[in-house]
Amino acid sequence: MSNVTLGASILAADWSRMGRELADLEAAGIDYIHWDVMDNRYVPNLTFGWDMIAACRSHTTVPFEVHLMAHETERDLPKYVAAGCERVIVQPEAHIHVHKALQVIREEGAEAGIALNPGTPLSMVEDLLPDITTLLVMTVNPGFGGQQFIDTMLPKIEAAAALVAERAPHVTIEIDGGLKPGNVARGVQAGARAIVCGSGLFGPEGKQAAIDAMKSGIADGANARA
Ligand code: DX5
Ligand code: ZN
Repeated sequence: MSNVTLGASILAADWSRMGRELADLEAAGIDYIHWDVMDNRYVPNLTFGWDMIAACRSHTTVPFEVHLMAHETERDLPKYVAAGCERVIVQPEAHIHVHKALQVIREEGAEAGIALNPGTPLSMVEDLLPDITTLLVMTVNPGFGGQQFIDTMLPKIEAAAALVAERAPHVTIEIDGGLKPGNVARGVQAGARAIVCGSGLFGPEGKQAAIDAMKSGIADGANARA
């Protein structure tokens, strides 16, 4: 059993029955839910807000994290925590005052995280390590599910893991985008300890088989890293 967790991005879920989808994910062994909030400005897509998350909170007991692909979220951060998110992850590229945003999240009693796009250097987060518990290395360009994993992010995951091991061992390296059973072991081997999977969990094989396959790939990566 590895200490790597698996989260479900619900972009690819059946939104017409989201509560049921969450209950099924929990029954199939998901570790957490990853809510992808998109504002149709920071990324060319629009999803949902805090009210949707709040409406779903009672349908599962697993932790909620929200990935805010949105500009200037400071004003709304308390609403995501009130909706039931234990972790709030922001994109530094979308904030003039990202350190302030992280402060607000923590003042509201939630864990704070930073998501780095493929084009954003790791150096962007160095001064923020004391203020976060999750460093999310994006392995696709944000905005859509079902994209291909960007292999060139593997050295960045390794570098992030080394940075955290040296300076901020309290931080978990998370990866998000294009993760499937066939490539997840490489992400774990590179140092990821939390895995977000979206479209890979909502296929015809069903959630239990999909989660089992992802967890098997995660275990392979953890064994190879040991
Ligand atoms: C992309 C989102 C990801 C995405 C993951 O902007 O942040 O969470 O939904 O979905 P898959 O696993 O299909 O790439
Ligand atoms: Zn995401």
